[in-house]
Amino acid sequence: MSETRSDRPSGPLRPWRGLIEEYREFLPVTDATPVVTLHEGGTPLLFAPRLSERVGAEVFLKLEGANPTGSFKDRGMTVAISKAAEEGAQAVVCASTGNTSASAAAYAARAGMACAVLIPEGHIALGKLAQALVHGARVLQVRGNFDVALEIVRDLPNRAPVVVVNSINPHRIAGQMTGAFEIVDVLGDAPDVHCIPVGNAGNITAYWRGYLEYKAAGHSTRLPRMMGFQAEGAAPIVNGAPVESPETIATAIRIGNPASWFGATAAASESGGGIHAVSDEEILSAYRFLASEESVFCEAASAASVAGLIKLGVPESSRVVCVLTGHGLKDPDLAISQLTVPPAVDAEMGAVLAALGL
Ligand code: F0G
Repeated sequence: MSETRSDRPSGPLRPWRGLIEEYREFLPVTDATPVVTLHEGGTPLLFAPRLSERVGAEVFLKLEGANPTGSFKDRGMTVAISKAAEEGAQAVVCASTGNTSASAAAYAARAGMACAVLIPEGHIALGKLAQALVHGARVLQVRGNFDVALEIVRDLPNRAPVVVVNSINPHRIAGQMTGAFEIVDVLGDAPDVHCIPVGNAGNITAYWRGYLEYKAAGHSTRLPRMMGFQAEGAAPIVNGAPVESPETIATAIRIGNPASWFGATAAASESGGGIHAVSDEEILSAYRFLASEESVFCEAASAASVAGLIKLGVPESSRVVCVLTGHGLKDPDLAISQLTVPPAVDAEMGAVLAALGL
C-alpha cells in the first residue's frame, strides 16, 4: 500500500486540518480552490463491546456526530461550499430534513455567503432548526415534506443565481467518500459489512464510491457488503416505489423519493448487500441500547444502522462498521419523550437522600 499523505506535519498532536487537506488527491479541488473548512472529518471509529457481543461480531461505530455541526453532512459541505466559493457563488440553497440545513448554514457563514434552506414544517428536530437560524440562514418552513421542498430547490438555479448544496451536487458526494477512507485508514482494510441509514441515499452512494476508489488506489484489498436501512414508513427503495406521505419518528430520513435511489441500489447489488426496512420501534430500541450500553448518544435516524444489524444479523466474527450519522443532541425532544423527567426536590440533604432511596 502506498503512502500518499507523507507531507502531513507530524508531532505528538498532529493538527487535523479538515478532510480536504487530508484527502486532497481524491477530491475535486485544485490550488485555485479556496478551502472553506471547520476541520470536519477525522471522526472516531469506536469499538462497541456490548453490541459486538450481542450480534456475535466485531462491531465499530463511526461517530459522525463528532463533526463540527454534529452530522456527516459537514464532509460533503466543506467540498460543496469550497467549490461554490471557487465559482464565485454569492448564495447557496438546500432542501433539508434538518442536518443539511445546519451544515450549509454554518459553512456558508464561514464563506461569507448567503444561505437559504427549505425545511418541512413541523418535522425538523429542534437542534437542527436552532443551528440553521443561529448561523444566519434564511429558513423557510414549507407546507409539505422534504421531497416537494427538493423539487422546488432543484429548479431554483433556473430562476435565481444560487448554488444547490443538496447531495444532487456531486461535490457533496465526493466529500462524503472520505468517511470510507478514514475507516480503511483506521482498520487497515475495509470491513466485511458496512451498515448505514438511507434517506435521500447520497451517503450510501458516497461510501460505496469511497471504498471503490480507495481500493483502486491501493489502500485496501477488499470491499464491504453495503447494508442500507430505511425506516419502515419511509422505505421507497425497499418497496420499489416512491412513498407519497413518508412517516417515521426518525425525521432525518423521512423521505419518500430519494434523489440517489439508483446509487443506493447499485451499492447494494454490486457489493452483495441490500436495502432493508426497520420499524420505528426497532430504531428506538437500538437508539436506547447505544446510549445506555455503549455510551453513544446518536440520532434516531443514525440508530437505523444498528437496528438493521441487530435485526438481520451477520456471519459470526464478521468485522462490521455502523455509521452513526448524527448526534443525539440534535433532537432533545425525542430523547426526553423516551424517558420520565424526574420532579425537583428541595435543596437539602434529607430530601436528596430520600429521593435517591439512600
Ligand atoms: N442520518 C441522518 C442523521 C441524516 O440527517 C440523513 C439525511 C441520513 C441519515 C440519510 O442520509 O440522505 O444521504 O441517505 N439527512 C438529509 C438532510 C436528508 O436534509 O439533512 P442520506
